[in-house]
Amino acid sequence: MQPYDPQKPATPGAFAGRHELIEFVRTSLEVATSVRRGSALLLFGYRGSGKTSALRKVQALVRDAARDSVIVEVPLRFQSSETMLILGIVEAIRRQLASRPRLGSRVRRAVERVSAVSVLGTGIQREPAQHPPPSHPVTLWNDALEAMARVPLLCICIDDAELLDAGHVAILKTMAETDSPVPLLLAVAGGPELMEQLSRPVASPILRVFSGAMFDIGQFSLAETQEALEAPLKSNRRAGRWDTSAVESIYHLTHGYPYLVQCFGAAAYRDGQPIREDDVLTAVPKALRLASSWLERELPNASDQDIRAFVSVASLGRIEFRSSDLTRAGLNPVYTQRLVSAGVLRRVARGRYELRMAPAIAYFHALRRGLTDSTWETRRRSSSEIP
Ligand SMILES: Nc1ncnc2c1ncn2[C@@H]1O[C@H](COP(=O)(O)OP(=O)(O)O)[C@@H](O)[C@H]1O
Ligand SMILES: [Mg+2]
Repeated sequence: MQPYDPQKPATPGAFAGRHELIEFVRTSLEVATSVRRGSALLLFGYRGSGKTSALRKVQALVRDAARDSVIVEVPLRFQSSETMLILGIVEAIRRQLASRPRLGSRVRRAVERVSAVSVLGTGIQREPAQHPPPSHPVTLWNDALEAMARVPLLCICIDDAELLDAGHVAILKTMAETDSPVPLLLAVAGGPELMEQLSRPVASPILRVFSGAMFDIGQFSLAETQEALEAPLKSNRRAGRWDTSAVESIYHLTHGYPYLVQCFGAAAYRDGQPIREDDVLTAVPKALRLASSWLERELPNASDQDIRAFVSVASLGRIEFRSSDLTRAGLNPVYTQRLVSAGVLRRVARGRYELRMAPAIAYFHALRRGLTDSTWETRRRSSSEIP
């Protein structure tokens, strides 16, 4: 069985890095279980950076800290209002309690009551006139918490929160600040659009609720890349071994994007054997195929010449460059500037640049467009030429 699966979030046992986040959750859980006070955290990340994986890890930590906790994950699958969010949460709590006969029937009855109200609130009922008017979402929320008063800890993970209606993001603040009878760990994850929404001046009170508890989960460091490649082997007791050169090569090709690391891991892994840089380079086309749905959304408007320029830079095998390195790689200042505008390169100081995108993106587009005159295979040659 393949220990790497880019289409699935990492299991808690195979989850790598993000130590700051894990520390925060551990501390929050100590506070929650000792003085019954809750906390809230916010995770940001690009697609495939590991938001869902991180929420699963949070849930595992909660389970370890307090076994009888009620833990729900609420992924927003489409644009949602605050009412839909609360209903989703109440419904998830109800489902979770249904599988927990050990929990008191009082809790279950109370939640059933709340969810019965909520069904009316959605307008699902045919003849709403015969029934009480729909509850306000905040009332529903309070009722649900009230029903959980005897639960040791309630953990709510809201995934893909950028799908909350723009005017409704304040519900997150309300939720985090409710004076709750059950300690609540609220973990919210969203893409860059959520961060954008929350950085507007009107949203600053919402952002303040999460201050000190915001985690921008970006690319892996080299050490995290190594951990992400090794952890699934440990947790599945597999005998393959990643050579340092192979890890470095994957780190370079993927720029540490977790989803891409997973694709390269899947493509290059050979059970029971050492995996070396050559194996990684041989597996590049396979890895690019695995990652194609992610890769094709990057740089959709680049010209062939942009892609050639990106490939030349990527083939240098480094992350930081001087203008002279770029010139030597055949880039004229016009193309350097185009790569800067496209977000491939960033100018860090006068005459100094940094690579911002994964070389895999360049190779993917080059292969797809048949611009294969220079490829990842030139990397070894050119990197040995650079002092
Ligand atoms: N911390 C991590 N450790 C190991 N693998 C990870 C980690 N974060 C993400 N991944 C891998 O990256 C891929 C995308 O992760 P996912 O959680 O689905 O991202 P997102 O929810 O941000 O789109 C998955 O294959 C997952 O296994
Ligand atoms: Mg996700």
